[in-house]
Amino acid sequence: MTNVDLLKERSSPACLEVTIGAGPGIGRAVTSLFASKRYNNVALIGRRADQLSIEKSAIEEAVGPQAKVKIYALDVVDSAALSKALENIEAELGKPGCIFYNAARVLPSELLTHAVEDMEYDFKINVSALYVCAQRVIPRLLQLAKSETEAMPALIVTSSMLPLNPIPQLFALSLVKAAQRNLMQSLSMAYASQGIHVGLINVGGPVSPTDKVWNPTNIAAKAWEWFAQSKEKPTFEVMI
Ligand SMILES: NC(=O)c1ccc[n+]([C@@H]2O[C@H](COP(=O)([O-])OP(=O)(O)OC[C@H]3O[C@@H](n4cnc5c(N)ncnc54)[C@H](OP(=O)(O)O)[C@@H]3O)[C@@H](O)[C@H]2O)c1
Repeated sequence: MTNVDLLKERSSPACLEVTIGAGPGIGRAVTSLFASKRYNNVALIGRRADQLSIEKSAIEEAVGPQAKVKIYALDVVDSAALSKALENIEAELGKPGCIFYNAARVLPSELLTHAVEDMEYDFKINVSALYVCAQRVIPRLLQLAKSETEAMPALIVTSSMLPLNPIPQLFALSLVKAAQRNLMQSLSMAYASQGIHVGLINVGGPVSPTDKVWNPTNIAAKAWEWFAQSKEKPTFEVMI
């Protein structure tokens, strides 16, 4: 698919990107690059309204005047609030074409002293909320795949090497990322053949603006390259 083809969705009613877990790192870089390449409308979800306002300005600046960005402040572990926000997003910005699921807490967790409730909270962010999101968006993405030949309906999740190589000092994040990957594998097995790009962006190390590989700009560029060729050569994941 050429860049011209990729831009075609701009004129379609489904030119909406939804970022769940909007923050200054990978979230901002991927969201702005994808929006500048393909999506006019952007919905940003995160817990802190003040940070979301900063993210909105950053994306408007990166994408230009054609961008329509709206923010929705909520904790994704609140399933009712998440479902309501997804409903409002559709009413206010149109049907989503790309859902970018990026929410997580990248925090140390010490084996045996880490509270079980904290582990369960991480599970809710990475797995339960992703499942609630999939329940709502997969039927929409299936409709889009059937109705628009140029569409690239997608559910994309940021992950890492932790599912395959757990780090004991990050055991909670490691185990929930493993469960998240497993859910994404099931979704891919069920829906990839029906035209939905279900996939993972695996970032192999700690993200820093000064790192040569694991900086948000490079991660976004590699993620876009992978996504842009997904219609012709779909693959479940990209390793960065
Ligand atoms: N940072 C790393 O070194 C690294 C390495 C490999 C992979 N990853 C993966 O990359 C993703 C995050 O990227 P990033 O670290 O660069 O962060 P980021 O994109 O800068 O921000 C992620 C945002 O997610 C939001 N979030 C977290 N918990 C949430 C919740 N319960 N409800 C709603 N929003 C929530 C946070 O905003 P609020 O606080 O406002 O809610 C946060 O700003 C994660 O999936 C992580 O596992 C990160």
